[in-house]
Amino acid sequence: MRKVLLSLAFLGTMAMLQLNAGEQFAMSDADRAMYTEMLENNPAEIYVEEGGEILEEALGGEEALAKFLEVSEKDLPKYIAGFPRYIKKLGNVVGIDQVLQVMQVEQGKKKTKLKSGKMFSMLAYVKSLANDELINIDVEADEHIKASYALGKTTYLTARGGRGLSCNSCHSADIVGQVLRTQPLPDLGEVAVAGTWPAYRMTKSSLRTPQRRFQGCMKNALLKVIPIGSKEMIALEVYIATLAKEKGKKIAIPGLKR
Ligand code: HEC
Repeated sequence: MRKVLLSLAFLGTMAMLQLNAGEQFAMSDADRAMYTEMLENNPAEIYVEEGGEILEEALGGEEALAKFLEVSEKDLPKYIAGFPRYIKKLGNVVGIDQVLQVMQVEQGKKKTKLKSGKMFSMLAYVKSLANDELINIDVEADEHIKASYALGKTTYLTARGGRGLSCNSCHSADIVGQVLRTQPLPDLGEVAVAGTWPAYRMTKSSLRTPQRRFQGCMKNALLKVIPIGSKEMIALEVYIATLAKEKGKKIAIPGLKR
């Protein structure tokens, strides 16, 4: 703990204080008012809607997606709540965005880039189909997801970069709630990362995906940025999804974040 705090101190002026439980992040009164308003009317809803339209027009909507995934339309929401998954015909543990890309290729269409706004919208829409479902990732389902979980855990725990920090340096149970440069360190299970991203990020005024958010922390903490869609990145998503599953969290897309 002490060592962690010392290395964090290099990151700049840091005020340590304990916050009231339930307080997710520090904001000015004006920002808090805006947050409350946006909770009622999340600006990302429009992207989710747009994502649904693109999916429908470009790929044949939920029906085509369910068929591709070999599940019934009725079971699709529950199935989506378990991603990332090992998909046999893709031969890999993948995210929903990669499934959509393979569908595009199968239908002879141009692949939408994983990093594009269009893909973020489609991903948000598909994940929103699972709203109110419990996060149900099963890391024991097969050897591939088991391996991905193990890689994700290692990636999460391994200190990297100039400051020797890992994700866990800032997000471990014994440090969460403390404040780094005015921002409380969140427990990634408690804030249900796997259930709330894609989210509207107020500070970026845009829809962001979980992997994009992970990259934000990597940049800030000077960890080498892992590419979106890479094996390590998916593994990290797998590991972080288990943190929310353990806390019995549900899917609620789009999230709203600072
Ligand atoms: C130097 C400390 C630090 C490190 C290292 C760090 N984070 Fe963070 N992280 C933060 C802080 C502070 C916030 C809250 C910032 C905010 O609210 O804007 C945060 C927020 C997040 C969130 C958003 C949580 C939410 O509200 O949904 C995710 C996801 C996240 N981090 C993932 C990671 C991952 C993955 C790593 C490792 C690659 C990592 N972080 C490494 C400090 C860190």
